[in-house]
Amino acid sequence: MTKTGKGYKGIGMEGTIARWYAAGTAKDASRFEAQFAQVRRLTGQGSAVLEVAPGPGYLSIALAGTGDYTVTGLDISETFVKIAKSKAAEAGAEVDFRHGNASAMPFADESFDFVICCAAFKNFSDPVGALREMHRVLRPGGCALISDLRKDVSKEAVDKDVDKLGVTGLNKIFIRYVLRSVLPRRAYLESEFAALIAHTRFRTFDIQVSPLALDVELRK
Ligand SMILES: C[S@@+](CC[C@H](N)C(=O)[O-])C[C@H]1O[C@@H](n2cnc3c(N)ncnc32)[C@H](O)[C@@H]1O
Repeated sequence: MTKTGKGYKGIGMEGTIARWYAAGTAKDASRFEAQFAQVRRLTGQGSAVLEVAPGPGYLSIALAGTGDYTVTGLDISETFVKIAKSKAAEAGAEVDFRHGNASAMPFADESFDFVICCAAFKNFSDPVGALREMHRVLRPGGCALISDLRKDVSKEAVDKDVDKLGVTGLNKIFIRYVLRSVLPRRAYLESEFAALIAHTRFRTFDIQVSPLALDVELRK
C-alpha cells in the first residue's frame, strides 16, 4: 500500500472553506443527478459503493437513500466528515462516513463493487497511490469512476457551468476565477491521466472528455 504523509495538494478543505463549499454545492442538483445516473448505469442494486472524497456527502446520502446500495464515504477533511455525518442523520440515510486518505485507505482488499470519486482527484497529493488503492479495494470485475475538471477546460465551458449554479455577485466572480485559473493548474489532461493509470494494475479503462470534465471509467 502506498502511504503518504500529506493528503492535500494545495489548500486543505477544513473549517470555513468546507462549510462554504457545503452550502454552495447543496443547490447543484444537475451535477448530482448526472453522477447518480452514472452510478445507476455502472453498478447494480445491492452493490457495495465507496465514494472517495465525498466532501459534504450529498451523492452518498442520495445513493443510500434509495435503499439499493451499501454506501461508504472516505474523506481526508475532518470538517467534511462531520458535516456529512450530520447531513446523513438529518436525511435518515445510513452512510459509513470515514476519515482517511485516498492513497492509504482503511479498507480490506476487495471490499467494494463500485468506487466513485467526483471533483477531487486533482487535489490528491499521491494520485497513483489513490488509483492503486481503488484497484486494491475493488472486487474482481468491479468498476471505478473518476470525474474531475479537465486541465484544458475553456473559459466558455467554465462560464456556462457557473451560470447553471445560480450564484450571483462576488460569489460568482470568485467561483469563476477559481475554476478558470486555480483548479486547472492542478487538473490533468486526458493523456496525463492515461499515463497515471499506466502505473497501476488497471488494464481496462475508458476516458470520456466533455467540455468541462474527464470521466474516467476503470475496470478491475
Ligand atoms: C472539491 S471537494 C469535492 C467534494 C465532492 N466529491 C463533490 O463532488 O462536491 C474535494 C474533496 O476532496 C477531499 N480530499 C482531498 N484530498 C484527499 C485525500 N488525499 N483523500 C481523501 N479525500 C481528499 C477534500 O477533503 C474534499 O472533500
